[in-house]
Amino acid sequence: MRPTILITKRLFPETVAFLEQHADVDYESSIDGLTSADLIARARGKQAILSQFTDALPREILSEMRGLGMIAHVGVGFDNIDVPAASEHGILVSNTPGILDDTTADFAFALLMAAARRVTEANTFVRSGEWKRWSLELMIGLDIHHRTLGILGMGRIGQAVARRAAGFGMRVLYHNRHPLPAETASALNAKWVGKEQLLRESDFLSIHVPLSDATRHAVGEAELSVMKPTAILVNTARGPVVDEAALVKALQNRVIAGAGLDVFEREPQVHPGLLELPQAVLAPHIGSATVETRKKMTMMAAENALAALTGTRPPNLLNPAVWDSWASRPEGAG
Ligand code: DGY
Repeated sequence: MRPTILITKRLFPETVAFLEQHADVDYESSIDGLTSADLIARARGKQAILSQFTDALPREILSEMRGLGMIAHVGVGFDNIDVPAASEHGILVSNTPGILDDTTADFAFALLMAAARRVTEANTFVRSGEWKRWSLELMIGLDIHHRTLGILGMGRIGQAVARRAAGFGMRVLYHNRHPLPAETASALNAKWVGKEQLLRESDFLSIHVPLSDATRHAVGEAELSVMKPTAILVNTARGPVVDEAALVKALQNRVIAGAGLDVFEREPQVHPGLLELPQAVLAPHIGSATVETRKKMTMMAAENALAALTGTRPPNLLNPAVWDSWASRPEGAG
């Protein structure tokens, strides 16, 4: 029998066509995706779902999804899925690590540079006809080269950001629960420091930690208050890692100079204070949004799902311990 897969919201046509070659696909083609009730109803009788960041899959919903074998998530961050609860229900979960590191690091740098050199402000200034004359201080910004870049969270994306900093001659500091192996740190020319030192010495602080109970509001009023008044905060990780209200206050009171934000606490809502601050460069969660990378992410998720459904261990499992018991079920995922 062909495996059955639910795609929860709009995907690239070629990924849908690829899945349709191998499985019976229930495709929700809308951009909005499914409500929780519809997600539960449509997942019924399916062996796998291809989920996206906006699909909330907490314990209460997973417990309604009995019989589901796999959640193949399109994305590297998986804070929308309660993975321990999925494991308890024998549901495999996979994500799409690695392929979006460079693309996301490029975007972190784009935000950093846009905030430092006031690119979005300058763009608005020219388009609105306000530009009447040139002067030495017009749209004057901050240097990037030879400044200190602080990286909070030195996983794959943090390391990709550090590699980019080398081209700008930047000094790179990082804070991570575990320091990198000495050879890796030395290849990146990056030095581990405590969190307080990172906050104090960074001209640019770029966040790359996953969202968890330990990292929620990891940057709040106390952390912002020790940063330099010329510092710029960049967040391409997850919104709730930063206390958005505290950030608004810090920007309003010039505690720090600017911010480049791709992620927000309550997406797609943005704190109204941020919308009024020209020194905040804002983007709608598009860190990995290039044609190549987004297509690769969907294909990787599709391949993870099909691997599991055809009895092969998916390469990107988040709960590999489930695999042995799952694979030995006579009926597979169903
Ligand atoms: C990711 O891959 O985690 C991106 O934020 C999109 O979900």
